[in-house]
Amino acid sequence: MSGRLDILRPDWRDRVAAAADWLRGRGFTAPTGLVLGSGLGNFVDALDDVESVDYGEIPGFTTTSVAEHKGRLVAGLAGGRSVLVMQGRLHPYEGLPLDELLLPTAVLAGLDVTTAVITNAAGGLNLHFVPGDLMVIRDHLDMHFDDPLRGLLAPEAETGRAGRPYRLYDPDLAQLMREAGAATDVPLHVGVYGSMWGPAYETKAEIGMLRRAGCDSVGMSTAPEVALLHVLGVKVAGLSCITNPAREVGQPELSHGDVVEVGMMVRDRMARLLLAFLPRLDD
Ligand code: HPA
Repeated sequence: MSGRLDILRPDWRDRVAAAADWLRGRGFTAPTGLVLGSGLGNFVDALDDVESVDYGEIPGFTTTSVAEHKGRLVAGLAGGRSVLVMQGRLHPYEGLPLDELLLPTAVLAGLDVTTAVITNAAGGLNLHFVPGDLMVIRDHLDMHFDDPLRGLLAPEAETGRAGRPYRLYDPDLAQLMREAGAATDVPLHVGVYGSMWGPAYETKAEIGMLRRAGCDSVGMSTAPEVALLHVLGVKVAGLSCITNPAREVGQPELSHGDVVEVGMMVRDRMARLLLAFLPRLDD
């Protein structure tokens, strides 16, 4: 078992380790992990030598309630590189305690993942963004306004984290992502992701606030996962797939179905980008 889990609260660490051991025994381990956002799950079609397991079968996993999420962990080769892919995720709006919400993320770290690519479907706050665009996340604003790691770490680790600088998204990975974008002709923005509670989309006033606060994209996931991966020593690249404009004026009415549909358009671009990005990793 990977020693990096030692910083977790002992009883939670045991639950994470039990799930990770169960998966490891079935061959689910890789240096790179990916989490796929709403409507982006089809990236797994680009993998070779695929094995998968439904979240419901994994000891300790809570199954996701969002209908179009498949809710499974997939292992395979992406451009010859071994990867673990979480197809479907839990969201803070599901109201779960943090140790349930973040258990799958911790398990990923327990399966020897050293680099993670966290993707999401997001609204475009930046006025230059159009649906179908991709944005490398350079930082986020966590509008849950709560510590996503509260109570999850062992007391020593809790003390160790106080006052430490907090650079969550790895700049070298962001650069590799941009190089992969240039090599595949997939244009990439770089910006700040705003992580909201949801599940309703933002009010116009919230959209205005987020844009003035410096956010370029907005969604309902990612920030808690990235905070945990960071303390567990996993390097993170973040990617927003812009599925709709988020505007203070002229905002179109949006259904979840609309977002999933544009998600289907951007997912091909994202797959192309990731297939060029993953072989550039060197660990
Ligand atoms: N807001 C929040 N989450 C989202 C959006 C949005 O506009 N689009 C896709 N996920």
